[in-house]
Amino acid sequence: MAGRGETVAVLGAGGTMGRPMARNLARAGCAVRAWNRSREKAAPLADAGVELAATPSEAAAGAGVLLTMLSDGDAVLSVAGDALPQLSRDAVWIQASTVGEAATERCIALARERGVAFVDAPVLGTRQPAEEGTLVVLAAAADELRARVQPLFDAVGSRTVWVGEAGAATRLKLVVNAWVLAVVEAGAETVALAEGLGLDPQLFLDAIAGGGLDLPYLRAKAAMMAAREFPPSFKLSLAAKDAALVEQAAQRHGLELPLLGTLRARLAEGAVAHGDEDLSATYRTSAPA
Ligand SMILES: NC(=O)c1ccc[n+]([C@@H]2O[C@H](COP(=O)([O-])OP(=O)(O)OC[C@H]3O[C@@H](n4cnc5c(N)ncnc54)[C@H](OP(=O)(O)O)[C@@H]3O)[C@@H](O)[C@H]2O)c1
Repeated sequence: MAGRGETVAVLGAGGTMGRPMARNLARAGCAVRAWNRSREKAAPLADAGVELAATPSEAAAGAGVLLTMLSDGDAVLSVAGDALPQLSRDAVWIQASTVGEAATERCIALARERGVAFVDAPVLGTRQPAEEGTLVVLAAAADELRARVQPLFDAVGSRTVWVGEAGAATRLKLVVNAWVLAVVEAGAETVALAEGLGLDPQLFLDAIAGGGLDLPYLRAKAAMMAAREFPPSFKLSLAAKDAALVEQAAQRHGLELPLLGTLRARLAEGAVAHGDEDLSATYRTSAPA
């Protein structure tokens, strides 16, 4: 039975999201075993009583819950392949990385093959909400799994949105990220346009202040663009990955949404040189010389 007394293996525990999630699970009373490819990035978790593992299999040995929080589908599938056979009987795999529809289907098939219950659980929120334990968890799984994993979601998030069978949460995540990516790219081009027209971009923010078009997220990203400093909360390389996943989903479902192709190309272009900077560094591609 999963819950706060459960042993949770966290793979990707040195990442922007994985590390604070592991820490919050430990704070909530879970016995957490953490693995990260670059071991030193997970090392600070030892202070929170987290046990560091040398391999995914070591982290998973006898654990009741596996949490994956890695960059993309290939990374998730490769580590999960090693970890799943080591879990306890009756274990559950919570897959929280953003991997898109096709990779989620592969995860579901792998879990079924290994006899492990699967929860599709991508999250909304970035570095700070992850640290504060206020992520929004988008969760999809068989009904009987909900009570088992809810205490873990409550440890990392402030809200869970249940959306049906595994796969549905990933689809909802793609929908939300289509919006997030469009807002940031539109914000970047609007700031660049203001500058190109000889206007202080702050005038744009002042003009929309308090109205229906004002957004705290736009303000936060525009401030980074104005300062030309992009410490990563959500890396541009991951945003480019997500834009491609969103476009693939639209194509799979026979939708013609041309903005998605533009977004995918624009974010991929910025990610070549600035992939480790924040998503808002897409502004660099549009900024006037
Ligand atoms: N940051 C956000 O705002 C945010 C919000 C919601 C969802 N997400 C999603 O959550 C996931 C993690 O994001 P993040 O921001 O935490 O990314 P991150 O800081 O770049 O961390 C990525 C993690 O994946 C590991 N990794 C990458 N490739 C690997 C491979 N081939 N084998 C093993 N491990 C590998 C990294 O290990 P190393 O440390 O060794 O590189 C690291 O632990 C992504 O799918 C992202 O799209 C991010």
